[in-house]
Amino acid sequence: MKKILITGGAGFIGCHVVRLFVNKYPAYQIYNLDALTYAGNLENLKEVEQSANYHFIKGDITDEPFINGLFTEHGFDAVIHLAAESHVDRSILDPLSFVNTNVMGTAVLLNAAKRSWGNAEGKLFYHVSTDEVYGSLGETGFFTEETPYDPRSPYSASKASSDHLVSAYHHTYQLPVVVSNCSNNYGSFQFPEKLLPLMINNIIHSKPLPVYGKGDNVRDWLWVDDHARAIDVIFHQGKLGETYNIGGFNEWKNLDIVHLLCEIMDDKLGREKGESAKLITFVKDRAGHDKRYAIDATKLNKELGWEPSLQFKEGMEKTIDWYLSNSEWIANVTSGSYKQYYNQQYVNR
Ligand code: NAD
Ligand code: TYD
Repeated sequence: MKKILITGGAGFIGCHVVRLFVNKYPAYQIYNLDALTYAGNLENLKEVEQSANYHFIKGDITDEPFINGLFTEHGFDAVIHLAAESHVDRSILDPLSFVNTNVMGTAVLLNAAKRSWGNAEGKLFYHVSTDEVYGSLGETGFFTEETPYDPRSPYSASKASSDHLVSAYHHTYQLPVVVSNCSNNYGSFQFPEKLLPLMINNIIHSKPLPVYGKGDNVRDWLWVDDHARAIDVIFHQGKLGETYNIGGFNEWKNLDIVHLLCEIMDDKLGREKGESAKLITFVKDRAGHDKRYAIDATKLNKELGWEPSLQFKEGMEKTIDWYLSNSEWIANVTSGSYKQYYNQQYVNR
């Protein structure tokens, strides 16, 4: 029986990973450790909260005595580390909390794993990271596992630092690690600060759709459940010390994706064609806005046989349907500090 610590399991990607592991592997005991920040929400895990192999622990990954105590108490065999501050715009407003959670928090977890595991066999520290550590691409080319790190936002710099710490613990202490760097995810349960859920929510409420700059920045979009499936494959078959890029070869300009959303939602909301697109408002660009991300996921496909399962348009339909039928979830997660954040970010921008 394996005891797996999943950090950040109450967040967007984490809740999909927790659901997958709890349902697919009844013989594993899954411990979800989450501080329940504005981005973490236990409603995301209603489907598994009664499962015998699921356990929730509320706590902060930067709290060293607490984390060491957890490892001593439970004797985890593996860690899947997702907990992080994850939004670039917030990292521009408050970089230090990103350094604290993403760098210090990861260091505390690595150290606890090292203390607890020593040289024992069969352990694994799986670090979940982002393609943003590679920086920004021009018109052509892809990020591969060999692309040098060149982070440019406080968020990506903090994730890059955490990736380096993971690698350092592997080389210095032989900690068994694996890292994956994934492109932009979309799907259900994503907090409405990120592009797609923010735009979907604003279209529902006929609010302006704030497109940064000219809307010509490019992102590479992956269905969140395909990311969770990739994590499952890498967790079980990935080579120790290796990095795997995860992406769906699915690049979109921001403005095109917002137009696509508007088109689908006009239809679903019974609006006249073109009505939602009238809400598009060009606003001041993000500081240091990375131009283009594009992942080459050939290694993961060739070595471990993973490929995305869903076509983008089908994924978008499913995502929009989920938000349309979960208005209570949106209302709940936006009931706290969201309004204040939104005003700070968008009013008079
Ligand atoms: P998210 O913001 O939705 O969730 C983060 C979770 O971590 C929340 O549940 C939050 O409560 C928890 N958390 C934050 N600080 C914590 C702390 N100090 N202690 C314990 N828990 C804490 O993020 P997400 O989009 O689900 O991203 C998850 C991971 O995947 C992150 O490491 C992120 O860098 C990485 N990633 C995200 C994307 C993406 O498109 N969202 C793409 C690639 C990689
Ligand atoms: P985001 O979802 O924040 O992800 P990331 O910055 O980590 O890639 O943003 C995706 C793209 O959408 C990015 O180029 C910034 C842009 N964007 C907007 O144009 N308007 C918005 O309100 C948001 C949140 C993002």
